Amino acid sequence: MNEQPHRPIRSFVMRTGRMTSGQARALEDLWPRYGVEYSPAPLSFDALFGRQAPRTLEIGFGNGEHLAALAVAHPERDYFGVEVHRPGVGHLLMLAATNNLSNIRASSHDAVEVLREQIAPGTLDEVLVLFPDPWHKKRHHKRRLIQPPFVELVASRLASGGVFRLATDWEPYAQQMLEVLSDARALFENLSPTGNWMPRPEERAPTRFEKRGTRLGHGVWDLAFRRS
Ligand SMILES: C[S@@+](CC[C@H](N)C(=O)[O-])C[C@H]1O[C@@H](n2cnc3c(N)ncnc32)[C@H](O)[C@@H]1O
Repeated sequence: MNEQPHRPIRSFVMRTGRMTSGQARALEDLWPRYGVEYSPAPLSFDALFGRQAPRTLEIGFGNGEHLAALAVAHPERDYFGVEVHRPGVGHLLMLAATNNLSNIRASSHDAVEVLREQIAPGTLDEVLVLFPDPWHKKRHHKRRLIQPPFVELVASRLASGGVFRLATDWEPYAQQMLEVLSDARALFENLSPTGNWMPRPEERAPTRFEKRGTRLGHGVWDLAFRRS
């Protein structure tokens, strides 16, 4: 009997998704300026951005509206976004070019591999995971991103004092996030004044999935943990 090749459990399934002509053009024309190819070797952020600045990584940035808004609001910081949905990456590249941003770069690879292979330990100041796929069905819970091995990986890539920020509109997943991060108390300190959730950051422009959750009558749970 043939052995099945080992396939890792991923936090996404590749959707074909409709790509607008603008997104396709952006991927073609702007990738050389903003795109970061995957390769299993650590990146030099200083070389990538041509300077040394505080660095934020956003995992699963969706259509990139939120990441682009942050890059516009904070020219003193550098932003690296990782998203497997190609139309979303195209959209972010369009926003980056329209705003003539020089402090943003994007990868369209699995963020778990990017973190593990391309980001050197202790090099990030902030990691954002906003409204990750909740994988509602029990048999799919294993696909959820926020689990102990992933949290340990994020911790290893954050500099001491760096902050891991998360949000979700799905209460059971919020509870899981709180539990997994609270259990990692040797690595992270909860920044919540109440020991659980954070107030919603006023600065955050509602993301596409946040707006969708609100339309469906869901709550929003924010978390922030500091790397010790
Ligand atoms: C529910 S959407 C949220 C998008 C966006 N953050 C928002 O709030 O609108 C989750 C996104 O994460 C992306 N994603 C999931 N797992 C990923 C991974 N391992 N690497 C990169 N992107 C991932 C999906 O493609 C999807 O676009």
